[in-house]
Amino acid sequence: MSSTSTTLTRDASGEQAPRLWSSRFAFVLAATGSAVGLGNIWKFPYITGENGGGAFVLVYLLCIALIGLPIMMAEVMIGRRGGHNPITTMKNLAAKAGISARWQGLGWLGVVGSFIILSFYSVIGGWAVSYVGTSATGTFAGADADAVGALFGNLLGSPSTLLLWHTLFMALVMVVVARGVRAGLEKATTWLMPALFVLLLMLVGYAFTTDSFGQGVSFLFSPDFSKLSTEGVLTAMGHAFFTLSLGMGVMMVYGAYLPKQVSIAKVSIAVSLMDTLVALLAGLAIFPIVFANGLEPGAGPGLIFQTLPLAFGQMPGGTLFGTLFFVLLVFAAWTSAISLLEPVVSWVEENKGISRVTSTLVAGAAIWTMGLLTILSLNEWSGFHPLGMFATFEGKTIFDLLDYLTANIMLPLGGLLVALFAGWALRRDSVQDELGMGDSAMFRIWYGLLRYVTPIGVLVVFVYNLI
Ligand code: PFF
Repeated sequence: MSSTSTTLTRDASGEQAPRLWSSRFAFVLAATGSAVGLGNIWKFPYITGENGGGAFVLVYLLCIALIGLPIMMAEVMIGRRGGHNPITTMKNLAAKAGISARWQGLGWLGVVGSFIILSFYSVIGGWAVSYVGTSATGTFAGADADAVGALFGNLLGSPSTLLLWHTLFMALVMVVVARGVRAGLEKATTWLMPALFVLLLMLVGYAFTTDSFGQGVSFLFSPDFSKLSTEGVLTAMGHAFFTLSLGMGVMMVYGAYLPKQVSIAKVSIAVSLMDTLVALLAGLAIFPIVFANGLEPGAGPGLIFQTLPLAFGQMPGGTLFGTLFFVLLVFAAWTSAISLLEPVVSWVEENKGISRVTSTLVAGAAIWTMGLLTILSLNEWSGFHPLGMFATFEGKTIFDLLDYLTANIMLPLGGLLVALFAGWALRRDSVQDELGMGDSAMFRIWYGLLRYVTPIGVLVVFVYNLI
């Protein structure tokens, strides 16, 4: 095993190792790329719409600040201290702290979880890629609700079309990951993230020109608590994990590439802020367009694939801005998918002692194959509900189950274990040493949130979701 090709640890100087991000800015862009994804542009707007707007947004912001951010700092901290793929990191840190080797399970949870998430994330990323072409060719222009619905229905109903786009999307992801941390992940995110921001601002600017911009703003920012249910609060909390990419070993492995001198608190705050900003801007781009066309904000998962194309089809410049919107969605999904492949590839590479390229091919092919389950769940197997005998899983396809398993069980469980490991299992002085904040008030607030607030918050969501 050659140490340069199979070890993620930083070298003595901490700076020159090829496995490290070249700067703190590079980490912030890559981690923001991971956080900003389908969760921000597809899921956040539709769950906000379903949960009545402002009050939901407020709860979501609180969850990001009080639960998401502390867990992100903890996960990045664990990653940097371990310096390897999530499984090896957990194994080494547990051994060093003299605690149970079972903590390695947290690493496994991450690698297996990101594997499963990517298998269906890539299928949805494929929808986005296909919609770039659909929009660019002017298909939405003048189309009515039935026509737009039929387009989406036909895409989901055709396994071969879905397979084509899923394959293309996975290929895009693998090309980047195969090139490694600096030449692949870092380079891709330094191009894609600024482009994403420019596109998003253009779309918000466009929404601003509609008569309904004010209505969109008040929908997002004026809280009406009568519209918020307990379930809405739990959805907000669950989404905070998903949107910040927590609990799946992603922030851990990105943390492993973070140079020692960088402040974990600062970069985590930057990433959380940018992720929140993008979600809010996506809302500001989408809702005015929805309202301007008299459409329903609570349309559910079809909001951006059915409602929005309908709006683009009715508006001046709709073909151009519709196309830009789907390009934005592809960029966002792409940089998140890259981050989901990294924990798996880094583990294969380090553990099996094979090259980066081969590891990417092996891991990518396995995930691609698993994606077939999602593709078939949308059509041929849509009537197959393997756990239908249990009330909670009634009517759920394999795809629905994979989504449920990851979003409702694996992510919160991963987040909870990160909080317990950093807050209770690791020694306070080693945590302090890695964070480099001394025993400041900020440190104590973070530590308190991590030890008490986050585990309780997560347990509440967790138990609620299971019953
Ligand atoms: N944060 C991504 C999004 O909002 O779309 C999704 C995601 C990426 C979830 C990586 C979990 C993860 F580990």
